[in-house]
Amino acid sequence: MRLRRALPLFALLATSGAAIAAGEAERGARAFQACAACHSLEPDRNLTGPSLSGLWGRKAGSLASFSRYSDALGKSGIVWDEKTLDAWVRNPEALVPRNLMLFEGIRDDRARADLIAFLKAASRPGSPLAGKPRPLPNLRDAPPGARVSAIRHCKDTYYVSSAAGDTVPYWEFNLRFKTDSSASGPAPKAPVLVGQGMQGDRAQLVFASPGEISSFIREECRK
Ligand code: HEC
Repeated sequence: MRLRRALPLFALLATSGAAIAAGEAERGARAFQACAACHSLEPDRNLTGPSLSGLWGRKAGSLASFSRYSDALGKSGIVWDEKTLDAWVRNPEALVPRNLMLFEGIRDDRARADLIAFLKAASRPGSPLAGKPRPLPNLRDAPPGARVSAIRHCKDTYYVSSAAGDTVPYWEFNLRFKTDSSASGPAPKAPVLVGQGMQGDRAQLVFASPGEISSFIREECRK
């Protein structure tokens, strides 16, 4: 059954059958902000970390649409439930050494319990607790500073020039090349630079189609 948005929160919780109290959900949702920079609750909307939609009962490291899992997580044999998540959120490195989640953990027992109760309800696909899907920004309306006019590659660095006239160097490993052929993607031959990551050192270059990528990148070292 699909739930109507206009229902108050307590009614949603009651009718969705999720065993979660309103206070718990609220505190848990607040605690989830520590995760939201890297994880969405929308199916297959992967950020730095994998989407947490459909997490319960999922084998660790198994979301097919996510390609940046550590070997350590994939080989851990963990299946996600209250118990395994509690250990993971408490201290990821202790549970799975050499994993790639850069998160020091939440030591407070109650905060973890609230977070996990929230996550259990919110990770069900279609849960109203997951929030509305955030549409991607319309890349056709990108400001000149984000519109790419040229890309030069030298050694391990991409130099990205914008229509505003500035050029920014990126470590080649921190730059992602993407295509978005949807209506909200960039116009043909007008790729857009989209910042990503916590320090601003990572970015993605979004092109209208794959064929444009190589024609934009010029191999050239100066001086
Ligand atoms: C700085 C980014 C970052 C933050 C913050 C973060 N995560 Fe992660 N998370 C990741 C990455 C990256 C992975 C993949 C780790 C690996 O493969 O070793 C991951 C993996 C996971 C997984 C395993 C998913 C799967 O498909 O197996 C869970 C569960 C998870 N995170 C939950 C959380 C929760 C809950 C929080 C907040 C308390 C959180 N994460 C905070 C980046 C982050």
